[in-house]
Amino acid sequence: MNIRNINQKQYLKQKQYFKQKQEHDRRKKILSLKNIKKISNGTTILDDVSVDFYESEMVGIYGESGAGKTSLLNIIGCFDNDFTGHVLMEDINIENLSSDQKANIRNKKIGFVVQDFSLIEEMTVYDNVALTLLFDKSVSFVNIRSKIVEALDKVGMKKYINKKIKLMSGGEKQRIAIARAIVNEPDILIADEPTGALDSKNTQKIMELFLQLNKQFNTTVILVSHDMNCINMCYRKIKMEDGHIESDE
Ligand SMILES: Nc1ncnc2c1ncn2[C@@H]1O[C@H](COP(=O)(O)OP(=O)(O)OP(=O)(O)O)[C@@H](O)[C@H]1O
Ligand SMILES: [Mg+2]
Repeated sequence: MNIRNINQKQYLKQKQYFKQKQEHDRRKKILSLKNIKKISNGTTILDDVSVDFYESEMVGIYGESGAGKTSLLNIIGCFDNDFTGHVLMEDINIENLSSDQKANIRNKKIGFVVQDFSLIEEMTVYDNVALTLLFDKSVSFVNIRSKIVEALDKVGMKKYINKKIKLMSGGEKQRIAIARAIVNEPDILIADEPTGALDSKNTQKIMELFLQLNKQFNTTVILVSHDMNCINMCYRKIKMEDGHIESDE
């Protein structure tokens, strides 16, 4: 390779970098955490965490067990009020909202796949996924079934629609939990170890689904994983350590 080719390559690389940077700068900030501190029973769980999330980002959060990943997701998902600092959602300070308004944000804007699935064992797959839509008045009754079928189809679980949760395997439950989180087509999908109970084939499928939601519907995906293959599929990687953000790249 001669010097001219090398320069050309460097030029193209730089051009691409500036293009990506411009795109990044133009993106809309949808969620902003400022100086979040959480102390529980005298232990500091989150230590002055400030981080912004943007529209249509795909973010992977990783770090050792106990680093504070789930605690951070609970605050992002409006599930935890017991902290100091500020959370702004599209420039609205969520502390100033009533509990009804917060619930409305959770129902309409956020889909959450929790670490332990939190499915109701005695109920069927259909009823578990339907729970998300129960409080969403914008979804008409006639649309409910088709939305549930569509979400179950996306995670490959349509055929189990009438099966009870208690009769399903850990990996199947995980996929139902993901269907429940995406059925309301959220702007932000938060997923805590969404592939922890899955084999490599299903892990790949779920990651492809997240990438598709991200690309096709501009869904912001924020996922926590111990699996570096999943983290490396994200465009932005955040490492947490001892309750703070160690790196963000
Ligand atoms: N309600 C609570 N009361 C007291 N300490 C808590 C509480 N919840 C979590 N912790 C502690 O806070 C720290 C962070 O917990 P968190 O669940 O956020 O970690 P994590 O990074 O999600 O870990 P893992 O990878 O194991 O899921 C841990 O040391 C945990 O023991
Ligand atoms: Mg956790």
